[in-house]
Amino acid sequence: PLVALVLAGGTGTRLYPASRSDRPKQFLPLGGDRSLLAETVARAGFADHVVVSTRPAFADDIADHAPDAEVVVEPAAKDTGPALVYATHRIAELYDDPVVVVLPSDHHVGDGFAEAMARGARVAADTDSLVAFGVEPTRPDDGYGYIEPGADRGDYRDLAAFHEKPDAETAARYVDEGYLWNAGMFAWTPEALFSAARDSPLFPLIDALDDGETDAGFAAVEAVSIDYAVMERAADAAVVPVHFEWDDLGSWDALERIIDGDEDGNVALGDDPVFVDAADNVVATDGASVSLVGVSDLAVVAWDDRVLVVPKEKAQQVREVVSRLKRKE
Ligand code: GDD
Ligand code: MG
Repeated sequence: PLVALVLAGGTGTRLYPASRSDRPKQFLPLGGDRSLLAETVARAGFADHVVVSTRPAFADDIADHAPDAEVVVEPAAKDTGPALVYATHRIAELYDDPVVVVLPSDHHVGDGFAEAMARGARVAADTDSLVAFGVEPTRPDDGYGYIEPGADRGDYRDLAAFHEKPDAETAARYVDEGYLWNAGMFAWTPEALFSAARDSPLFPLIDALDDGETDAGFAAVEAVSIDYAVMERAADAAVVPVHFEWDDLGSWDALERIIDGDEDGNVALGDDPVFVDAADNVVATDGASVSLVGVSDLAVVAWDDRVLVVPKEKAQQVREVVSRLKRKE
């Protein structure tokens, strides 16, 4: 069967202060009526089964957003590499001959998605390679992975190289050279993932899972994303180019790409702010009345009892706020 594996264990630090450690972004409605996780699960209807992967701290929250999904809770939060190996291992126990399609739960996605996922799953089943999905870049974003496409095989292209989150200058070069953004979605059979993971920093976990030693495996494995651990070193991977509307709601500047602005380019999530002589700002609130006067290109967020102000172009640096606050605690 086709199994959608929804990733919902991240902390979404760049969307502070709406996203907090006990209530990360996948549980928030950002731009829609339902949470990002509920949207993702609804979108996963193309699959025969939906499995949600999360870390222990969020285990009890999943049912509110995905009541019918199978939930797989990794024993320790070690980023997406270990999480995906563990969840795929569990899927192989639960279902016969599964093809897994991985879906992050922090994306805004347009029409044409289901067909593209089905195509990727077919390529994964037919070729037994790791399949990534490639989006045509529209800017040199350093928050994404970049894929160099190789030979054209019809339904897919060979994946010639994968570079996770290059610096801005390198990203700009990749865009010029026709690289694709990694959509963060993948398709694979368990065999394809496990054989790639054996040649990766994830190997201690693979060995341990085979021996039924899950906790020991998680203690031994390093915290690393699937992109660094597996995709950057995958020998024969494929990329399926996709053309649906796609955005990672990773940082506050992303809101202006999914919410329509006023005539001055100001975008608002939540209460209607007052803009006086202000242009191209992003405002997000959960109730506070926010007013901006004479400023432009800012993101201003008022959530709970917290306020954040950042130039949109520096929105990636918000993660630094979260680590400083953590150090103070
Ligand atoms: N179960 C589990 N456990 N899920 C996790 C964990 C974890 O420890 N950490 C993160 N996740 C989930 C997040 O909730 C999200 O749905 C997904 O995994 C991806 O994590 P992000 O932290 O959002 O990754 P990213 O956006 O920085 O980068 C990835 O996605 C980009 C596209 O959106 C990479 O794959 C990039 O290469 C890609 O371009
Ligand atoms: Mg993301």
